[in-house]
Amino acid sequence: MAASATSKLLVSDFDSSISHVPPNYVRPISDRPNLLDVESSGDSIPLIDLRELHGPNRAEIVHQLANASSTYGFFQIKNHGVPDKTIDQMLAVARDFFHQPESERVKHYSADSTKTTRVSTSFNVSADKVLNWRDFLRLHCFPIKDFIQEWPSSPDSFKEVTAEYATSVRALILTLLEAISESLGLESDHISNILRQHAQHMAFNYYPPCPEPELTYGLPEHKDPTVITVLLQDQVSGLQVFKDDKWFSVNPIPNTFTVNIGDQMQVISNDKYKSVIHRAVVNTERERLSIPTFYFPSTDAVIGPANELINEQESLAVYRTFPFVEYWDTFWNRSLATASCLDAFKASTT
Ligand code: OGA
Ligand code: NI
Repeated sequence: MAASATSKLLVSDFDSSISHVPPNYVRPISDRPNLLDVESSGDSIPLIDLRELHGPNRAEIVHQLANASSTYGFFQIKNHGVPDKTIDQMLAVARDFFHQPESERVKHYSADSTKTTRVSTSFNVSADKVLNWRDFLRLHCFPIKDFIQEWPSSPDSFKEVTAEYATSVRALILTLLEAISESLGLESDHISNILRQHAQHMAFNYYPPCPEPELTYGLPEHKDPTVITVLLQDQVSGLQVFKDDKWFSVNPIPNTFTVNIGDQMQVISNDKYKSVIHRAVVNTERERLSIPTFYFPSTDAVIGPANELINEQESLAVYRTFPFVEYWDTFWNRSLATASCLDAFKASTT
């Protein structure tokens, strides 16, 4: 059985009656999820209501964003302006994509991480020593007109629904970037300006049910390479965040996004805001779908701590200033590793 499973490109093509994960998915004993040793996030991951961001209580919401970004690096948001219908359609069409016949899904298959639209599996099949129980479609979605021709044209509504969702989420992200700039005491357009033309990618993560979820990961622990990530998940739990030496599961709340601070924001904020370790686990019963929107600088951007946040006396620059492409190449030339990619971008202390 394992032989037939390993000859498939995607996890979702394995025979669903297999009772063991193939050997190349089995983690060493020291690196397994320990599914029982997990706290429920309950109210420990802040839920921020954005409704009042444009009213007289803006300062209070900005304060909540500052607090969540410095303490947790993760928060959930409601009343975010992305219509429920847009969210429902996005989840439905993403599910339809992965429920298509294998021949349709593998049309876009590529192991080349420089491709701007591709289907693949695990994290980085060229570098992963142990594979992950995840298939994904990844695409670029800003500016939409530069990429929409190469997106999947099946299901029929894929392009239209994805374009509407990406546009709506981008508007939300621009709002968040302004508020987060303010929360750092910067001009509200500071972060947006640093990002130059901006870049936006989406992933559609598909985690099939797994016969032995205690032996493998959907995605092993990592920090996101982004400025920020806005994650939509379906109603199946699986996302876990590391805080105070414990793993917390971030249980889905309908029509709510989970936002996390990425490495670029950690640099811009000079370590005030934290890019936090997270991972995704799988389960025996139910497939799981998550749709992160990854927001990035464009490749010509130069990233470094905001000048306003550093001074000679108390607050030295933790990072050097670097071309974003240098980080990008470092990130993709490795497997997902615990060691932060940012270690290579620290300011020299001598
Ligand atoms: C990611 C990620 C978590 C999830 O794609 O970077 O962390 O719940 N996904 O799928
Ligand atoms: Ni992530």
